[in-house]
Amino acid sequence: MRMYDIIAKKRDGLELTTEEINFWVKEYVKGTIPDYQVSALLMAIFLQGMNQRETLDLTMAMASSGEQINLSSIHGIKVDKHSTGGVGDKTTLVVGPLVAAAGVPVAKMSGRGLGHTGGTIDKLEAIPGFKTELPIDDFIQNVNKIGVAIAGQTGNLVPADKKIYALRDVTATVNHISLIASSIMSKKIASGSDAIVLDVKTGSGAFMKEEKDAFALAEEMIRIGYGANKEVVAVVSDMDQPLGYAVGNTLEVIEAIETLKGNGPNDLTELCLILGAHMLVLAKKVENFHEGKEMLKEKLYSGKALEKFVKLIQMQGGDPKVINDYHLFPGAAYSDIVISVQGGYVHGIDGEKVGTAALVSGAGRFTKESQIDLGAGIVLKKKVGEKVLKGDVLAVIYSNQEERLKDSKELLESAYLISSDPVLRSKLIRGVVTKDGIEKN
Ligand code: URA
Repeated sequence: MRMYDIIAKKRDGLELTTEEINFWVKEYVKGTIPDYQVSALLMAIFLQGMNQRETLDLTMAMASSGEQINLSSIHGIKVDKHSTGGVGDKTTLVVGPLVAAAGVPVAKMSGRGLGHTGGTIDKLEAIPGFKTELPIDDFIQNVNKIGVAIAGQTGNLVPADKKIYALRDVTATVNHISLIASSIMSKKIASGSDAIVLDVKTGSGAFMKEEKDAFALAEEMIRIGYGANKEVVAVVSDMDQPLGYAVGNTLEVIEAIETLKGNGPNDLTELCLILGAHMLVLAKKVENFHEGKEMLKEKLYSGKALEKFVKLIQMQGGDPKVINDYHLFPGAAYSDIVISVQGGYVHGIDGEKVGTAALVSGAGRFTKESQIDLGAGIVLKKKVGEKVLKGDVLAVIYSNQEERLKDSKELLESAYLISSDPVLRSKLIRGVVTKDGIEKN
């Protein structure tokens, strides 16, 4: 088999066989096919597309390109949760302990962030002492002991995706539904859970700016899941403005703790209850979604989910005193405020601009090597639909590098759109996709 022929076949819009897909993925990971040939193939895929069978084959070839985690020694049905990524998305920090408090094991492998803020793993590292690098045996043991563990992905999980994603990133081939779906699902499949709840974001702060693309991505991932024998449910949720108020590592962990104390922002709390309820259904803990949501509300407002988070912190070496003393988190030496220059209503908050403002403040990574400023970030004071008076504070920026505040502030100022007429907020949940189809809200 020759890579040249595979490229030419896809260039001409033909379907690749399972053997051809297995061949190029395997040989690329081994290093026998050069980057320039895979770049050409990725562009051909980007332009000509892949059918469902090819997309599933690519996913499975990537999933089996490295280590595959065996979670069978964890008792019960393991349900994973994945978000396609958005600004201020700290749901895993809440959903993990919440679902575990309801008796469903949560064995969560998460990533670091390359973008606006850190990923879940970076966020957890804002907790002094918290260890995110767990040997797999300890990871499994922790889940069996307290019901939840959240750790960084091991070095050799889906090496094919690491190489292919790095190439897509520099060849303008990231934004393709089959490629995104296979990238995400290969990692979920290799992580060993029995079922998956996907949170597919749509809006200005998301990969999928258009709702119809978010639904198409959700449907593709559901098909892959079922092709791989995993039950999958996808919730398509709003990312036209950041989720909650906090964007940045320490700031988001504090907001997650407040949510676990029952004082969280409405959108974050609601989304966590919804994602968690779907997890409970897939884990067969409850008969239906409504029963799941009621059970989780009880776990949240009784403090049981917070207790689980405390156990998670203790188990992974962190200092549980942070729960009641936020000064123990890495802070920021400098701050500035963004003020509204007019009265009216917040019409929109561009999620991507807020994300970039957080990145500029130091909360994210410009390159893989960048050091995150854990105390940096943004706290929004007004969200879409809220009334503002001239001179009101719209947002606060935090950083440990004073010179970063200015650029971050300019971005935030341009992110807010204030209008004189009252505005309706967009719906938090745009719909739910299952194997039976789409149910739009
Ligand atoms: N997230 C991923 O893991 N892969 C993609 O291709 C896009 C988003």
